[in-house]
Amino acid sequence: MQIIETETTYKSAILNGKGHFGPYGGCYVPEVLMPALEEMAQAFEEIQHDPIFLKEFQDTLNEISGRPTAFTPLPRISKRLGGAMLYMKNEGLNHTGAHKINHCIGQALLAKRLGKQRIIAETGAGQHGYATAAVCARLGLDCTVYMGRKDYERQRPNVYWMELLGSKVVPVDDGSQTLNDAVIAAFKDWVANPESFYLLGSAVGPHPFPAMNTFFQKIVGEEIREQCLNMAGKLPDYCIACVGGGSNAMGIFYNFLDEASVSLIGVEAGGKGTKPGEHASKLKRGVEGIFEGYHSYFLQDGTGNIAATHSVSAGLDYCGVSPILAWLSDEGRIQFENASDEEALNAVQSIAREEGFIIALESAHGFAHAFKLAPTLSKEQVIVINASGRGEKDLFITMRHFQEESLLTYAKHLLNT
Ligand SMILES: Cc1ncc(COP(=O)(O)O)c(C=O)c1O
Repeated sequence: MQIIETETTYKSAILNGKGHFGPYGGCYVPEVLMPALEEMAQAFEEIQHDPIFLKEFQDTLNEISGRPTAFTPLPRISKRLGGAMLYMKNEGLNHTGAHKINHCIGQALLAKRLGKQRIIAETGAGQHGYATAAVCARLGLDCTVYMGRKDYERQRPNVYWMELLGSKVVPVDDGSQTLNDAVIAAFKDWVANPESFYLLGSAVGPHPFPAMNTFFQKIVGEEIREQCLNMAGKLPDYCIACVGGGSNAMGIFYNFLDEASVSLIGVEAGGKGTKPGEHASKLKRGVEGIFEGYHSYFLQDGTGNIAATHSVSAGLDYCGVSPILAWLSDEGRIQFENASDEEALNAVQSIAREEGFIIALESAHGFAHAFKLAPTLSKEQVIVINASGRGEKDLFITMRHFQEESLLTYAKHLLNT
């Protein structure tokens, strides 16, 4: 595992790079959006060194989201696998059920500082939309969330929560009707209403979004450092996270980027095969390109257009990936792997039965890889997995897989009452 051999560390390069991460990143947007992005970038530079803002951010995380989240050993699974000791960072215990609320609180406080009244967001699994809706309700901001029609149908509970919280949820019928189409619809809204604040849900998009998302998510790794030292008596040997756009991965990885002893592994959605349209594995099977305002790896067809993606988990079903992760992959600092739909579903069941937690299907991809890695390591080694979300939102997907008959009976019962 190599580390940059100059005084510039990966950590400082990410936050001070003005949106450039090696050849990746940048800000490729219509002129009409440049003033809004420049205003946002300027505010982001200021708040990083503003103790009043930083205190308000930390206090809000603690007060409404219950930080620090738990750091939980997984003794039964570790024993069965017979290798390294597994721990999970339970981001699912956050208010609204996932790590997404970390960057929602940060960006919403920034929007308030800029005097914005209206928030635009996109969502895939619904977790970013749900967190945005909750924070907007609390801060008195108007909120519109775009969601691909396919995700709108398969993550229906989260649509309901967003609406209950007073947000407008707009289903998007274009393209593959997933996260990518929701991002495009949100950008269209922003072009028409540049005075609104686009609260993006991952470490993707034009500058300053990737670095800003990382800055608000890095609390996850900061807490892990202390918790792991206290509980395991050492730093992790491996940190593992699932990768959709990259926000929970940057959250857990950032703090350890300059520590060569900590191996970092991102796990993408291997879906149901390796053919186009069967997976969402950008870093293993994607091609360099510029899309949605940034330069990174994207799943593209032979003509350079964006290809269809597939994952059982809506949150990983996205065509692009953080330009920061693209750079760190090329650098060899982060290793990328795949887990299939089937492996993720099996991981949900193992963690439920052996450890008593219902984890999100997205997070389960990271666990599935950890289950393969652990038996190859010694008992002294420590693997920390980011449980980025809890799995209640996946009720209708996992129940269909594990108990289809009961689900159909329940659906009939609901229709008849
Ligand atoms: C629980 C959970 N984990 C992970 C992800 C993937 O996003 P990211 O790669 O930005 O963490 C999502 C996206 O919706 C999610 O809801």
